[in-house]
Amino acid sequence: MKLRLALVLAVSAVVAAAGVAAQQPIVIKFSHVVAVDTPKGKAAEYFKKLAEERTKGRVKVEVFPNSSLFKDGEEMEAVQLGSVQMLAPSLAKFGPLGLREFEVFDLPYIFDDYNELHKVTQGPVGAGLLKKLESKGIIGLAYWDNGFKVMSANKAIRMPADYKGLKMRIQSSKVLGDEMKALGSIPQVMAFSEVYQALQTGVVDGTENPPSNFYTQKLQEVQKYLALTDHGYLGYAVIVNKKFWDGLPADVRTTLEGAMKDTTKFANEIAKKENDDAIEAVRKTGKTEILTLTPEQKAAMKKALVVVHKDNESRVGKETMQAVYKETGFTP
Ligand code: LMR
Repeated sequence: MKLRLALVLAVSAVVAAAGVAAQQPIVIKFSHVVAVDTPKGKAAEYFKKLAEERTKGRVKVEVFPNSSLFKDGEEMEAVQLGSVQMLAPSLAKFGPLGLREFEVFDLPYIFDDYNELHKVTQGPVGAGLLKKLESKGIIGLAYWDNGFKVMSANKAIRMPADYKGLKMRIQSSKVLGDEMKALGSIPQVMAFSEVYQALQTGVVDGTENPPSNFYTQKLQEVQKYLALTDHGYLGYAVIVNKKFWDGLPADVRTTLEGAMKDTTKFANEIAKKENDDAIEAVRKTGKTEILTLTPEQKAAMKKALVVVHKDNESRVGKETMQAVYKETGFTP
């Protein structure tokens, strides 16, 4: 009798434990470095909503915006180690991982507009680049748009000569470093979370980013001029830890893939407007003067910057560059 009771108790304990385990959601920690109110910030929240709804709570997505969990220089390692499961680093941040081909996206003027960009990010060239991540223990799920970059400083920057001697903050991309050098300025690699303070204290004089990042980091408080240069593109690859992703129950993974597909559509639909609105929002603060370049000034900037393509052929890879040129029709 005693033995039977013990057995019943043991069985019910196992059943209860299994029940608890079954109810424990799969947690996806999603870390990123920008504000919530940006194309990437909004897309991360949208993915959380779709993923949680569609898996009926089997998956919980915890979004950590604004470098609140990991900042640049930490987050790539964190996803490889599995400390976070998902990130969406800018395409300019894959060089330190050994994947220099991603810097093709940083090449000045390589895309005229979002349509040209999408030929790459939504086509075979983009897919081929994401595939390269697997050797690093990472799976690339999607590309999310941000936008075309502006330059900013505390002096009016209209022509290449205006950049001479300025210390310009850049992301960790050699292509971007060469771009600043081509303008005669001094590039400084720095984590995104440190940019505001570095501009405030004069550690750097200026920076480049799409307007949505400029405005949401409140850089209008520390930069007097913003030049609408559109000299290059900044966007993201959404990535996950491969072991985590491969280990998901197949039905959950399929549902998440669907959620990611729909989130990507959402992200790419809002990006342009978010950036256009950010320019107007900066203008409205009255703190930063928006400089619209004349066709001659734009041409002079382009002439000074395109040299960066040739100089980075061996780094980025001629094949990758040619493949992108073929999609976009760009001729250096
Ligand atoms: C930057 O560091 O300037 C950007 O990569 C930030 C971001 O993620 O948009």
